[in-house]
Amino acid sequence: MSKEYFQRRQNKLSEELSKHNLDGMLVTNMIHIRYLCGFTGSSATLLINQEGTTFISDGRYVFQSEKEVKGASILIDSISHFEVIKNENLLKDGQKIAIDGNNVSYQNFITISKVLSGVELINMTNIIETMAMQKDEKELEAIKTAVEITDRAFAEVFPMIKIGVEEKVIANQLSFLYRKYGDSDSDAFPAIVGAGPNSAKPHHTPTDRKIGPGELLVIDSGAKFAGYHADMTRSFATKGFSEEQKSIYDIVLKAQVDSIKGIKSGVSCKSIDKIARDHIASAGYGKYFDHGLGHSLGLEIHENPRFSKVSTDNLGTNYVMTVEPGIYVKDIGGVRIEDDVIVKENGYEVLNKTPKDFHVIS
Ligand code: GLY
Ligand code: MN
Repeated sequence: MSKEYFQRRQNKLSEELSKHNLDGMLVTNMIHIRYLCGFTGSSATLLINQEGTTFISDGRYVFQSEKEVKGASILIDSISHFEVIKNENLLKDGQKIAIDGNNVSYQNFITISKVLSGVELINMTNIIETMAMQKDEKELEAIKTAVEITDRAFAEVFPMIKIGVEEKVIANQLSFLYRKYGDSDSDAFPAIVGAGPNSAKPHHTPTDRKIGPGELLVIDSGAKFAGYHADMTRSFATKGFSEEQKSIYDIVLKAQVDSIKGIKSGVSCKSIDKIARDHIASAGYGKYFDHGLGHSLGLEIHENPRFSKVSTDNLGTNYVMTVEPGIYVKDIGGVRIEDDVIVKENGYEVLNKTPKDFHVIS
């Protein structure tokens, strides 16, 4: 990506800071640093102020920062990044500088306050998260590729999903393929594969439990591409399933499809959550759907806004949202169905192509 691409983001952040009468911001969250200047390493601080943008890291990242960092001057040193800022006189006494309390530990806050004692630190949360909600064309392309990889890997793993196979085996194979076709450092998050009673635990960690007959099976996983995440859940019944298990599947699928149909720019996140929640409640399973309907995704797997009962956000064009209702009943099992959806001015685009009709595993 070009220098101009990242400078636009830095300028937008500077404008937001000016609106709050702030002289700059110390950015410490590595995802935010990647968003603002392109650096993908694991340790850095970014200072954005009226004089421009300064990127500070250490000797492990000399070559990587030269290659990746755009729109910022680079300082490499082995001492604390805040000491570097002080030694280089990058901030003046009396300046008001934003830090993000969601990302600065109390200990780090004490350190920054001591080292930069003349500066007034102001807590500004969610300023970068809010900028990142609307995806640009390049980001949408990256998310679409992550979803394509997810569909492809899922199709390759599908033939091995059988009664008698361990949860772990499926999870590991999915992760392997996501790293093979997508970013090699990790998949979007540790794959969730839960069979039988484990399917009723929404964030189950895969075990050596084998898929059995008459069970429900939840598989939730995704690839990462160019740092952007995909997130897809598919659920299955196994041979010998009960009528109630099939009925739970149908209820979740209708809740998912109907709530997706409500998506378009301008509508409230709360109202989309309500479509799914009302359907599940009217079928008698309200208390078994106890998480939000979905979340935005991008450089992070969970971003704002969220589809939830308490959300105060509205959808905007080119937000990318997951829609993932679920029903989890202790002795019966769980079903969750999840797709990634681009919000359009007058509707939506579902990215995942993996089928979601009721399917029985033998
Ligand atoms: N796919 C896992 C989650 O969204 O929490
Ligand atoms: Mn999700």
